[in-house]
Amino acid sequence: MLVDPEEVDPSEVYRMMVQVITPRPIAWVSTCSQAGVTNLAPYSYFNGICSKPAALMFSAVNKPDGSLKDTVVNIRETGQFVVNAVPFQLAQPMVKTAAPLNYDESEFDCSGMTEIPSQRVGPPSVAESPIQMECELLDSLSVGDGPFAATVVIGKILLICIDDLLLDQAGTIDPSQFDVIGRLGGKDYCRTTKRFEIP
Ligand SMILES: Cc1cc2nc3c(=O)[nH]c(=O)nc-3n(C[C@H](O)[C@H](O)[C@H](O)COP(=O)(O)O)c2cc1C
Repeated sequence: MLVDPEEVDPSEVYRMMVQVITPRPIAWVSTCSQAGVTNLAPYSYFNGICSKPAALMFSAVNKPDGSLKDTVVNIRETGQFVVNAVPFQLAQPMVKTAAPLNYDESEFDCSGMTEIPSQRVGPPSVAESPIQMECELLDSLSVGDGPFAATVVIGKILLICIDDLLLDQAGTIDPSQFDVIGRLGGKDYCRTTKRFEIP
């Protein structure tokens, strides 16, 4: 099968891309509006960029009406955000935070997650998440415009907060304790419980 994205409906291209680019890690992004309303939403078009400066990126696809998602509006206003990790036990509350709430409503409330103050940035972190990366906006790039287009957000990581319970005796993260999830196509997710090593 050959697929030319220019000749296929964008919703179908999206369906294929999330089946092809897989598994994807999930950035659970907490932000705060200038008025002080907090926001929490998952983004799986997410990855690291480099380590000097320590930087990461995620991509927020525009809302169906072509407008920016609340997360992007907040980050452009305040220049700050936190990427919280999503272990398996937080999968259900994470999905609740994808609800398209009004701008003046916080997904912390509908998901039952707890806001705790971050150390280097204004937006709160998710208390229940075992890893948080506090970031400041380095740059944002519009890719296309209107529905199905997106904003790529590039953040400089100011601080990585890791729950000591995840660490092994050597002080590195033990993946069997982390149990992080990834997103596949459609309704599917995966866990990192099945791993193999290549020396
Ligand atoms: C697991 C998961 C991953 C998601 N990944 C993305 C993504 O990479 N980009 C995106 O624009 N929306 C993604 N979404 C949808 C957003 O979370 C959803 O549109 C949310 O309402 C955006 O919230 P906001 O407007 O408060 O920023 C994802 C949803 C889920 C459940």
